[in-house]
Amino acid sequence: MTTVGQPISRTDGRLKVTGTATYTGDRTPEAMVHAALVHSTIANGRTVSIDTAAAEKAPGVLAVLTHHTMPRMNPTPKPWTHLNPHGQGYLPIQDDEIHYAGQPIALVVAQTLDQAAFAGTLVQVEYEAESPVVFNAETAQEAVEPPQFLWPVAVAIGDADTAIAEAPVKVEQTYTTPDRHHNQMEPHVTIAAWDEDGTLTLYDTTQHIYGTKKLVAIVLGLPPEKVNVVSHFLGGGFGGKAYTWPHTLLAALAAKVVNRPVKLQLTRAQMYSMVGHQASTIQTVALGAKSNGKLTGIRHESISPTPVFDNYIEYAALGTRSIWGADGGISTNHKTVKVNRNTPTAMRSPHEALGHFALESALDELAYTTGVDPVALRLLNDTDIEPQSGRPFSSRGMRKALLAGAERFGWDKRTPTPGSMRDGRYLIGQGMAGAIYTHWRWPSKARVTLNSDGSALLEIGTHEIGQGTYTVMQQVAGDALGLPPDKVTMHLGDTRLPESHPAIGSATMANAGASVQMAADAARQMAIDLALSGPSAPLAGASPDDIRAVDGGLEVPAKGLRITYAELLARNGLSTLTADADYDPVEEHLGPKAVFSFSAVFAEVRVDPDFGLVRLNRLVGAYDAGRIINAKTARSQAIGGMIWGAGQALLEQSEVDPATARYLNRNYSGYLVPTNADIPELDVLFVGEFDEEASLIGAKGLGELTAVSVAPAIANAVYHATGKRVRDLPITVEKLL
Ligand code: MOS
Repeated sequence: MTTVGQPISRTDGRLKVTGTATYTGDRTPEAMVHAALVHSTIANGRTVSIDTAAAEKAPGVLAVLTHHTMPRMNPTPKPWTHLNPHGQGYLPIQDDEIHYAGQPIALVVAQTLDQAAFAGTLVQVEYEAESPVVFNAETAQEAVEPPQFLWPVAVAIGDADTAIAEAPVKVEQTYTTPDRHHNQMEPHVTIAAWDEDGTLTLYDTTQHIYGTKKLVAIVLGLPPEKVNVVSHFLGGGFGGKAYTWPHTLLAALAAKVVNRPVKLQLTRAQMYSMVGHQASTIQTVALGAKSNGKLTGIRHESISPTPVFDNYIEYAALGTRSIWGADGGISTNHKTVKVNRNTPTAMRSPHEALGHFALESALDELAYTTGVDPVALRLLNDTDIEPQSGRPFSSRGMRKALLAGAERFGWDKRTPTPGSMRDGRYLIGQGMAGAIYTHWRWPSKARVTLNSDGSALLEIGTHEIGQGTYTVMQQVAGDALGLPPDKVTMHLGDTRLPESHPAIGSATMANAGASVQMAADAARQMAIDLALSGPSAPLAGASPDDIRAVDGGLEVPAKGLRITYAELLARNGLSTLTADADYDPVEEHLGPKAVFSFSAVFAEVRVDPDFGLVRLNRLVGAYDAGRIINAKTARSQAIGGMIWGAGQALLEQSEVDPATARYLNRNYSGYLVPTNADIPELDVLFVGEFDEEASLIGAKGLGELTAVSVAPAIANAVYHATGKRVRDLPITVEKLL
């Protein structure tokens, strides 16, 4: 009767495949008009003049706004932090400064999108330009330690430098990862509408409705209760829709100026410059080890670019603080360089996916230096104690993942010498990597209402970003109430609902899910209380422990008693029965145990020795993400993450022109992501168990875990095939020739 753990299909699948799910851009409030943004062509300097006369006279134009005419915004709170104030610190179209190429400098509102876009081309701009600063090996030498905005910037446990210096075996290498963009199929779009009473409603493509609400209230000087944010479905987020970006603020102001609902959708080209990206990294990893491969010291340093006005840190060395034991010490730090670009942001999987490429490649180099098998090397350096905090792990499925993954992959048939395995003319390579992923514990509220017809309503301000939220939450609530998932209607994605957390950090199942469990449990308990003591008390005399919630009601099997929710509510003269829950867990770092997700990834590639082309033969991912709530949506998460990781390994990179500091990418044609033809059979194993420390529903983070360590597993497989160690992603043909 229970559905949790079962591979049930998405309850919103039909809506999505029939095109009837309402995405943000599908909305057309009455009298809606369209906005288009004009952007800077230079990356550094200022505008000297912006002539809007011709644009204002163009057909259908309602307003052309520049920094002279755009209403003023309040500054974002300082210091700039990750989720509060949730956005880029430099505010758009407020002054004549230019800090990055593609920065919005004017906004046109017109009756139609085409009219707005056309009028935008008539805006004449004169600049005073200065040379832009870009990120490269040279400017990276000017990197400094930035202020903290998430975790501590530098962490040292023990004395890594001495341990490495004294170690009989050393590996020290530099690894680099490129800028990348999220490339969501659904472009960022905001539709802003003001009510007569001054309430602003934003239909927004966001993974963080409450973050948008808070930032917009601050920047526009509105009481928070006057801002509503709605997002019912998201066509791809991947972290890129977690912050509030300039266009959302501009849409709200434009709607105020023209007194009409305004739709502002970024063009595909603007998706590369007006919203976040993943910043490139230059990482150095040094390992010290005994001759048997036991680590004695680890040092991991990372440098990444940040805009002149914000301090975004890509915490690439984060996972290194927690994943493997090294008795002598572990030292990690991060530096940034101020350059002319917009604010980077989290991109699946921020921090870990970049850092693990460096660390797990270096471990593979250590395996070859010592002659120890890569799986055995990781088993040898497994640790029960989380090195950074000294706390025991709540659960650590690393060993299980390594063993189960190796078995499924057939690792024992691998011959370790590079170039020793072949399939016809192809070189075959097999590589692997381990991974750890951060677990978040965040508060979340939820509400469950039993209706007079015996169905239930679940209300929670969480997000459906493609990961299956509607389905899994309906399962959790349905099981608690004894209802099938399709008898639970779910409302999410609206700041007028009980407040939940952003859909980032792979945290929704563990946290929002816990609040749903609590609310549904509380609603069931209210029904039980009524059945035991209310009018006609149908289950009077039963022990509460003997009462089961099944088939849309309550029953006591031993006594043959049963009452449906519909009947129970009717007997009590109630039209509904509502329970609220407030899940407020201790912050993860304050708990008695360290909570993380774990994985082991195994890759097999074939490399064409003449052309350097790498093709994937197969991938095996073994994951400890705690208890799995839905085996089907979880597997979908995993194959999505593995494909995402394959893109990181072999295809993805955004390119910045060193002369103009512009992203050269303007559409999908110049940015490669995996297609079906690039992806082989993907094998997914779940090895985790209920983790009560992680969440009251036993789940740990899954979605982003599955994209971590795919890249080093593939890079290690490429080395095994070819004997060439590629330390710079992506692994493209020219690097193997
Ligand atoms: Mo994830 S990049 O933290 O949305």
